[in-house]
Amino acid sequence: MIVIIDFGSQFNQLIARRVRECRVYCQIEPPTITAEEIRSLAPEGIILSGGPSSIYEKGSPRVDDGIFTLGIPVLGICYGMQFMVDSLGGDVRKADKREYGFATLSAKSNSVLFNGIEEETVTWMSHGDSIQAIPQGFEVTASTENTTIAAIADTQKQFYGVQFHPEVEHTVKGRKIIRNFLFEICRCKRSWTMKSFARETIEQIREKVGEKKVILGLSGGVDSSVTALLIHQAIGKHLTCIFVDNGLLRKDEAAQLKLKLKSHLNINIRFVNAASQFIKALSGVSDPERKRKIIGKIFMDVFEAEAKKIKDADFLAQGTLYPDVIESRSAFGGPTAVIKSHHNVGGLPKKMKLKLVEPLQYLFKDEVRKLGKTLGLDEDLVWRQPFPGPGLAIRVIGEVTKKRLDVLREVDAVLQEEIRAGGYYRKLWQSFAVLLPIKSVGIMGDGRTYENIVAIRAVTSKDAMTADWARLPHKLLGKISNRIINEVRGVNRVVYDISSKPPSTIEWE
Ligand code: XMP
Repeated sequence: MIVIIDFGSQFNQLIARRVRECRVYCQIEPPTITAEEIRSLAPEGIILSGGPSSIYEKGSPRVDDGIFTLGIPVLGICYGMQFMVDSLGGDVRKADKREYGFATLSAKSNSVLFNGIEEETVTWMSHGDSIQAIPQGFEVTASTENTTIAAIADTQKQFYGVQFHPEVEHTVKGRKIIRNFLFEICRCKRSWTMKSFARETIEQIREKVGEKKVILGLSGGVDSSVTALLIHQAIGKHLTCIFVDNGLLRKDEAAQLKLKLKSHLNINIRFVNAASQFIKALSGVSDPERKRKIIGKIFMDVFEAEAKKIKDADFLAQGTLYPDVIESRSAFGGPTAVIKSHHNVGGLPKKMKLKLVEPLQYLFKDEVRKLGKTLGLDEDLVWRQPFPGPGLAIRVIGEVTKKRLDVLREVDAVLQEEIRAGGYYRKLWQSFAVLLPIKSVGIMGDGRTYENIVAIRAVTSKDAMTADWARLPHKLLGKISNRIINEVRGVNRVVYDISSKPPSTIEWE
């Protein structure tokens, strides 16, 4: 395995992605980790990430410099390299010229890190500081037009540093450089697969849980479904899942889940129908944040009441993913994903004295999908697009009523069918319909209509932080619109949302 020290770079998750793509396991750790703790993890190599700080400034993040005495190869990237230079007796200062963007790297000597890479290659830089003097034992292995010391190496101790970012796509040979570090320098083996992960994780769950019982909140999304499957394979009937039908779900969602998880995979699930409770509480409410709060509160109450019925439960399982874990303890203590707060049955573990089981906490979303596939999860569940906890309540703009929810459910069902039939479902981050609180005039047959408008939203995205509206073919949009207006009573106009995030958001509320 590889340990990545997180100095706060926006790219540190990308470093982890690149390493795992090579089937080498890696963990991102905060700079507060000690050299002793790293030694006990027994990594084959250490990568020091970039970061926004200047090493010569007070309070800039540093990791225990005992890491340089462990006999483990180290690769410093950008700030990581500057930290290495500073710790080992070199000199880092503000650069005369800030370097940002593409830069042609010229190799100066035969560094193993650059094996199989042309003498000149395009890299991507983003730094305002540069190295003035390298520590003893190092040599300069590459430079760019603006940066004389763009890569360094101490081949004896196996310390390497690069000023550019090998983890970003713009660095043309970035993947090769990372592979060289992993396989030529650290001698890693390609042994990290979802099969091995599943085997080890199932074993760990058994060890941790023993004969005790586990509760899991099932949402129908890929994360909680995979969590359920993994724990089920570890402890079988000692796992009880709770699925709360809040009446804000898509058409047939609860039924599908019953079929795919309960019948096919034999997982123990309690279905709680609380639809009327939610819809009653939402009556007369239009403000999006109030809707979220009400839904969150009732969800907690319903979930807790059901969880209390399960005797001898000691554990609560959650489908927390790695990006949330990393963000919550990054170099600058970044915020956790607040948007998910209402699914993270927040205070419950403390209130009910439950311990947490989070078997996906080291995985990225696409790895969870791979794991789901490996475990035999239904394809439909594996590829489920994200769906917000408050569900259709934040897609019925304005007041939420059972009638309006039913209209939106029908519209959404047609949309999903066409998006799938057109081969777009997996290509899109999300696709959904929004029911607007205004009416417009139309004409159907000989009669004038005055009915609802729906907006279609389809976006591409990697992580929901930014998103672009999908350029769906006009033919497909035409078919969607035609079918909705013809088949769903109460809708006479369909519009397509062509806004990106930012400045718009993905959801309308
Ligand atoms: P926005 O609308 O902020 O959405 O661009 C980003 C992502 O978060 C989802 N989302 C939510 N998920 N509870 C959730 O569990 C919420 O209250 C919530 N609001 C937005 C949204 O669907 C998108 O994937």
